[in-house]
Amino acid sequence: MSPSQTPQWTALSKTAQRLRDVPLSELLEQPDRGQKMSHALAGCLFDFSKQKVDAPALQQLLALADARQVLPKAQAMFAGETVNTSENRAVLHSALRQGAPNAPAEVRKAVEDVKKRMYALAREVRDGVRRGYTGKVFTDVVHIGIGGSHLGPELVVKALKQHQSTPLRFHFLANIDANEFVEVTENLNPETTLFVVVSKSFSTLETQINAQSARSWFIERTADSRAIGQHFIGVTTNLDAAFAFGLLEENLYPIWDWVGGRFSLWSAVGMPILLALGETKFEDFLAGAQEVDEHFINTPAADNVPLLSALFATWNTNFLGASSLAVLPYDERLNLLPDYLQQLEMESNGKSVTLDGTPVQHHTMSVLWGGTGTKGQHAYHQLLHQGTRGYAADFIVVGLDEQQKSEHHNWLLANAFAQSQAMAVGFAAQADEPHRQVAGNHPTSTIVLDELAPQQLGALLAVYEHKVFCQGAIWNINSFDQWGVELGKALAKPIYTELSGSSDDGTEQDAATRHLINYIKRLKSNL
Ligand code: F6P
Repeated sequence: MSPSQTPQWTALSKTAQRLRDVPLSELLEQPDRGQKMSHALAGCLFDFSKQKVDAPALQQLLALADARQVLPKAQAMFAGETVNTSENRAVLHSALRQGAPNAPAEVRKAVEDVKKRMYALAREVRDGVRRGYTGKVFTDVVHIGIGGSHLGPELVVKALKQHQSTPLRFHFLANIDANEFVEVTENLNPETTLFVVVSKSFSTLETQINAQSARSWFIERTADSRAIGQHFIGVTTNLDAAFAFGLLEENLYPIWDWVGGRFSLWSAVGMPILLALGETKFEDFLAGAQEVDEHFINTPAADNVPLLSALFATWNTNFLGASSLAVLPYDERLNLLPDYLQQLEMESNGKSVTLDGTPVQHHTMSVLWGGTGTKGQHAYHQLLHQGTRGYAADFIVVGLDEQQKSEHHNWLLANAFAQSQAMAVGFAAQADEPHRQVAGNHPTSTIVLDELAPQQLGALLAVYEHKVFCQGAIWNINSFDQWGVELGKALAKPIYTELSGSSDDGTEQDAATRHLINYIKRLKSNL
């Protein structure tokens, strides 16, 4: 049954109508609201007190979760059932951090075996035991991959730079745009550069082209194709394709079909994280996520942080009219978090067909976007305060002043809290100054990481992962496939063929695309 046909959904619709005229500022008058609606977990505080719910609304949301069997479905996922039905796969990223004790034994063993090899490699590279083909120690690591094979590793390496314990420099090559290739490679020394090619499928266009260009770049400068063995590492499920590319078995680190790309940074996909942090801190990163896994499967709904996050997101999207989710980290080190969450949430839950193959009868994932505060306050917050659209926002702050610059840090936090306050309570202007009116009533959550350390970051990302699962379960959609991206890939092929000049205007194109192709061809031929 569609969730929107359930009595719980109907009850929530009525409650949303009742609350329409209740300003969020009124709900915030309850003195113990902050305490009651905040949950401490794995060195973080998840504060939902600025969500627009009262006690009956919260009870009804919990009833919806119950009716949708969200937590029993999570148990099934953790036990290795085929949750990703359209691809006939289990979904076991929690097993990568040993957070799924009921996962099949062979899965847990495979994870440990590969981890041992990863740790051995990381030790050798970091200690200068494994070197480049001329005997020099590695100075630079170039991670080649895109989407789930890129966003997580880059986010974590950059966010935890203060925890890096190696002089290695890390670079990320994702786009097919040659400008990125040139920018990444122009100052590199091939003798001291290690390439890590990460692609679950080993067939993704961008990664294929970038990896081939990197190999050519390397061979042109070294004139030694055998040296590739020492300088290229691969992470993939498609070992045959990786062998065909020229990677050696001892340099290949498997991942498995039960790890979705956007959930894979805990595996060998996160090799740069391990290389940057070393084994102990990488384990802390996994442990933070594992703590969230255990919390998620063992905690009753009313205190279950990922489930509550999902329920508030559903409430905002389906009942209060929020058309986007703004992710607003007040910490420059987390500037890639919105990019990472865009893939995690939008690729997972941007769906319009239910698990039974029927069209959904309600909205699914909204647009997720964002950027760091306080920069955004001088750019798009005007729209957030006085624009016409409903939205929700997640504020993420770091509680401790790790730079020990209290003036900066206290102002940073003061601004984060002031913004969420303004979004909640607004401002009632005098009648003769309507331009100063701020409507308020926008729901936000505030997440405080006590510090930005591996454990907290691991926990934060795992909460969002399980939030995604819960929303998919509520909406009755498959959060783990991504068929929508295939069409564009197929359409690009004939256009590429034409742009490359290997066919004339023969392929069938709509008039607008035909015009663009011809314009580019004329432009290039006039050079
Ligand atoms: O095209 C989308 C996608 O399949 C993502 O889901 C995935 O994370 C990304 O491409 C990269 O895929 P791969 O790791 O197979 O190269």
